[in-house]
Amino acid sequence: MDTTSDDQAGPSHAGSVNGAATGPAPFPVYAFVNQKGGCGKTTTAVNLAGALAARGDRVLLIDLDPQAHATLGLGCSPDRPTVVDVLLGDASVEEAVVLAPGRLTLLPAEPRLAEFEEVSGRMIHPEQRLRTALVEAARRGMTFDHVLVDCSPRADGVLCANALFASTYTFLIVETGAFALQGAVQALKVLDEVADNQERTFDVRVIGTMFDRRTKFARELLVALHARFGEAMFETVIRTSVRLREAPALGVPVQELDPTCRGAVDFAALAEEVVKLRHDIVLQPAAPPTASPASAGTPSSPPSGESHPGSLPHPSPDDVASPRA
Ligand SMILES: Nc1ncnc2c1ncn2[C@@H]1O[C@H](COP(=O)(O)OP(=O)(O)O)[C@@H](O)[C@H]1O
Ligand SMILES: [Mg+2]
Repeated sequence: MDTTSDDQAGPSHAGSVNGAATGPAPFPVYAFVNQKGGCGKTTTAVNLAGALAARGDRVLLIDLDPQAHATLGLGCSPDRPTVVDVLLGDASVEEAVVLAPGRLTLLPAEPRLAEFEEVSGRMIHPEQRLRTALVEAARRGMTFDHVLVDCSPRADGVLCANALFASTYTFLIVETGAFALQGAVQALKVLDEVADNQERTFDVRVIGTMFDRRTKFARELLVALHARFGEAMFETVIRTSVRLREAPALGVPVQELDPTCRGAVDFAALAEEVVKLRHDIVLQPAAPPTASPASAGTPSSPPSGESHPGSLPHPSPDDVASPRA
């Protein structure tokens, strides 16, 4: 599977898709995906958005999950219109966005978003709706340095297809727990199918999360992930953090809660990597899953695969990790 763009500088999907004309995405768009629920997609999307905004960038966070966890976790329970109205063509991005804590602009979701899956069957190119809305928003003068799209676990559904179609980069979120490598390989297979349907390639980058350096398993797994994904993996890994669990209950990104906690520090480091992203990494086709983290990276690794254990963040006393095996 060729998961990357061969375009060094521009967006990854200029050209034609299923006969429909496409062009450059108006903003850098990152889709947060993994078909596994509870692996940290929403936490990563919300707090990376917060970190990018904290450095002064203009950030749009799009909640594309009917569960609306990003929306609720930012303390927003908006009246209509929401993102479903945008996808249906009944509202513009400009009309539907709200200002959220952490200097974020949020395009909120609501449970009604699930209905889009049903009505999309009667639409031509329903997967292109989000991108079309973003192009229209740019035409109307809206500008963003980053657009982050939090996806539902249905990676093969039409909502995720919208995020992927609009995306400049696909961020695969991998919880550094049991079966992480197998899950990541499975996710790449799903992405491969969507890429085939959309007649394009995705520039996939991998973010490790919920990392607990106290467990040998997690440390070995991180090495295996780096070996498997090479430079497509971000150096920054998001550690387990109690503050990251608390922040949504308080309706804020973690930076607003405690800018010095490990969650805020990790996302600040990740944000610095994200602003330097370029389309110059080729991720090799998905390899079959293997049994143990230590052996998983070696036989099927791309030649560029390297481990970066030296880049692991150091634990801080201000935040207590949740033990995970
Ligand atoms: N780095 C982390 N440290 C501690 N808890 C985390 C971390 N990332 C996610 N969580 C918690 O794990 C659960 C699932 O995360 P979430 O982001 O909602 O996953 P997803 O969007 O993939 O379903 C949530 O309770 C969240 O607070
Ligand atoms: Mg989620």
